[in-house]
This record gives sequence, structure tokens and C-alpha cells, in this order.
Amino acid sequence: KPQVFTTVQDFRAALAEFVRRHSTLRPTVGMVPTMGALHSGHGALVAAAREQADIVIASIFVNPLQFDDETDYQHYPRGLDADLQLLGEQGVDLVFAPTLEEMYPGFPETPQVSLTAGEMGRLWEGASRPGHFDGVVTVVAKLFNIMAPPSPAKLHAWFGQKDAEQLAIITRMVQDLNLPVTVRSLPIVRDENGLALSSRNQRLSVEDYEAALAIPQSLFGLRQNVENGDPLGLDDAVAALNEAYGVDLDYLVVVDPATLQELPPEDGSLQQEALAMIAARVGPVRLIDNMVLTPS
Ligand code: PAJ
Repeated sequence: KPQVFTTVQDFRAALAEFVRRHSTLRPTVGMVPTMGALHSGHGALVAAAREQADIVIASIFVNPLQFDDETDYQHYPRGLDADLQLLGEQGVDLVFAPTLEEMYPGFPETPQVSLTAGEMGRLWEGASRPGHFDGVVTVVAKLFNIMAPPSPAKLHAWFGQKDAEQLAIITRMVQDLNLPVTVRSLPIVRDENGLALSSRNQRLSVEDYEAALAIPQSLFGLRQNVENGDPLGLDDAVAALNEAYGVDLDYLVVVDPATLQELPPEDGSLQQEALAMIAARVGPVRLIDNMVLTPS
């Protein structure tokens, strides 16, 4: 199992020591922030970090600031032992797993000073989950500050394209605030039926699971249309999801991957690389998924 630290002070001391003893003069540190309940999607991020970086660190913290729904926060799966097992098997060197009190002393009085994700943070997921991305950027900035190795080591932080809006906003935060971090990303990991892996999938019944498959199917359909040079068929895809049994569609949109602004025309052919993004409620959970669409 990897070494686990619950306080900022202990984690920083251990990382500094690790960097100091490392044989590489300017090691890169690959960081994988998570909320735990780890699955192969997280595993792929850790594996990529392990391959590309000299030192690999991960965090496990269920961040209350990014939950707009108290029940979702309470029900978010937690399982530290299994998580540490997986991180250990993947060769993670150090894990930061703070308590709520360590991250936000006297919560909710702390934090007083925090970040906002701006206009991008109010689009799509941000529209349905007010404050969600403000909570994400605040905790991610804290984690970057806590987990940054001492110079001359370099920090590379890994994020999954599963959370495409989160990735775009964090990339923008690093640019806008000149944070000394390189953002790296990895494609979505799916199960054998195409469903994007998510910690929330644990809460789907067998019926819910079957219903949820309509989500990736509609994305694969859009991609097929683009690859065939056919009209995108976005309206048809939306209509099909609206009729799909057990799926309560929130949005299906095609956007610019960097700005997340919706791309016109609604149903013509694509002129640029785009991202199709879906959010839908299935059974007790809200699922998100997306797919890159590349016109040929
Ligand atoms: P969490 O949902 O635990 O996800 C941690 C990382 O794993 C994110 O970068 C996410 O995009 C990635 N990930 C999850 N499922 C994936 C999949 N099926 N394929 C590829 N990558 C996947 O995202 C968060 O935590 C939090 O918002 C966090 C960034 C830790 C801030 O609290």
C-alpha cells in the first residue's frame, strides 16, 4: 500500500523528502486528484501518470463544496481501504487523504475566500448544479497548492475527459491564474457495454443500468453520423433520448471543446472538432457522458 497522509504538513514533508531522495535531478510529479470510490477510469489516470512521471501522488477527498445536493454528498460512495489497495497496486507513491476539518477548518465557516469558475462554470453541468464548478476550482486550487512539490520538481496534474467541462474549466483556471501546473488528460474509460465508468454507477439497479446504455448509444450514433459525413442528426438524437425508457434527459448539446459554447448549426454538418455532451438522470443518479466529434 502507498504511504497515506491526512494532514497538509505531513504530506508536504513526505513529498519534499521523496523529491530530495529521488535520483532524477528535476523529477516530474504526476498528481491524480480524486474523490475516491476508485474504478478503472481512475486507474487509467494513475497508470498514465505512473508511465509519464517520476513520482506519482494521488488525493482522495470528497469535497462538500462541489455538491449542491446534500443527499448526493451523503450517498457518495466511500471506501478508503479498497481505494488504497488499488492505488498501491498501481504504484502510487504518496496519497493525500485529508479530513474535512483539515481542508476546511470549522466548515462551513471555511473557506471564506474562494474561487469562481466564471461564465464557463454556469454552463451545462453548472446550470443544473449551481456552485458546483466554483467548488471544484476552489478545491483543485487548494490541492495544487498543497501537493505541489518543492522546486525544481514539476507538477503535472491528470484529469479525465469523462468530466469534459471540469477539464476545460481547470485548464482555463491554470491559464487565467498562471498556476505552475501542467494539465494532462486521458480519454473516457467505458465498460464492455459502452457505459462510461463512474463511481455513481454503483447505485444503478439492473434496470437502471440497461436504461443508461441509451446515453453512450446516442453519442456513438452522433459520432457515426459525423464519420459518415451525414448530417449530425442532433434533434433526432435528443428526441430518441426523450423517449428512451428510464432516462430523464437534462441536456444533449454539441459544443466547442475549449469554450463549451454551443456550436451552430443545430443540425447541419460540423465544421470543426466538437464535443457532444449529455447529462441525464437514470434511477437515483445523474449521469454525464461525452464524445469528441471530428469531421472527416
Ligand atoms: P472523481 O469523480 O473522483 O474523478 C477523478 C478523476 O477521474 C477526474 O479527473 C475524472 O474525470 C476521472 N474519471 C472519472 N471517471 C472516468 C472515466 N470513466 N474515464 C476516464 N476518467 C475518469 O472529478 C473529481 O473526482 C473531482 O471533481 C475532483 C477533480 C477530484 C475535485 O474534487
